[in-house]
Amino acid sequence: MLKEKIEKAYAEIKATIPQSEAELEELRIKLLGKKGLIPGFYAQLKEVPNEQKKEFGALINNLKTEATDWLENLKTKVVKARKPGADDGTDMTLPANFLSIGGMHPLSIVRQELINIFGRIGFDISEGNEVVDEWTNFTALNMPHDHPARDMQDTFFVKNLDQHVLRTHTSGVQVQEMLKGKLPIRTISPGMVFRKDNDATHSPFFHQIEGLYIDEKVSFKDLKQTLYYFVKEQFGEGTKFRLRPSYFPFTEPSAEMDIEWNKNGESSWMEILGCGMVDPAVLDNCGIDSKKYSGFAFGIGVERIAMLKYGINDIRVFYENDIRFLKQFIPA
Ligand code: PHE
Repeated sequence: MLKEKIEKAYAEIKATIPQSEAELEELRIKLLGKKGLIPGFYAQLKEVPNEQKKEFGALINNLKTEATDWLENLKTKVVKARKPGADDGTDMTLPANFLSIGGMHPLSIVRQELINIFGRIGFDISEGNEVVDEWTNFTALNMPHDHPARDMQDTFFVKNLDQHVLRTHTSGVQVQEMLKGKLPIRTISPGMVFRKDNDATHSPFFHQIEGLYIDEKVSFKDLKQTLYYFVKEQFGEGTKFRLRPSYFPFTEPSAEMDIEWNKNGESSWMEILGCGMVDPAVLDNCGIDSKKYSGFAFGIGVERIAMLKYGINDIRVFYENDIRFLKQFIPA
């Protein structure tokens, strides 16, 4: 009797092909679970006459091994055949893990806007190194060694690299452009610059876009008109701006430009750039005939423009990489 039952079980096992992991588990419980078929056979061994116990024991052991191997074998097949949506316990209604989409940093957005604005009126882009020699950063720009004008920019000097600095402005790129001797020049130099400042409106590094235009008969009115175009494009028609006389060693005359903005409900001025007519001494230092050529230059702080545009009052948020801040600039 028992022998027949066992033989029937063999055949039955092989006849069942589970279609999913859940069905496979059902089969496993049916065969090997506590109240399953095989443990049941072991229980029935008690009733088998002693002299046959050995034979039946071996038969059941054999069945158990086969069933175990069979289940193991099926498992790999079922897992391999698993399809999305198959009845394998996967909850298809759960949201997928989407890749999050990044966005441009606000400074990159503004930098690109500025590049586009000046690009529309013919300015190309020139770039240079962030570590430059003192001659390029200062001397060529009318700030000889030990000249007090060097103190206008708190500078990082580079250790073990004699007479090199982290550039304090991108004006050095313009020096390099002038030295190439190809005229006229109409270029902007975007880039990171470094100064030993650190407070809510100054950072030890920030971004500039400096502009340079050199040709015959370039005058202050060209400078003013160029800046007017920039203000109109960046801040909108009717934005008020003013030029205040100022001093830079490399321009003569020099000015600073302020933009009218709304600070805590009150109208106020924010300085956004320095500018002026390139000092003839600078042209001569860079091998350009100052009797024939003249030019203007300006230097815009990208952070300042971004602060005005987005109403940000602490420059440091640009560099903290706080995702809650950065997320706000991802287009919807
Ligand atoms: N290089 C100046 C600065 O970084 C800005 C500037 C550029 C001023 C060109 C005048 C002309 O402060």
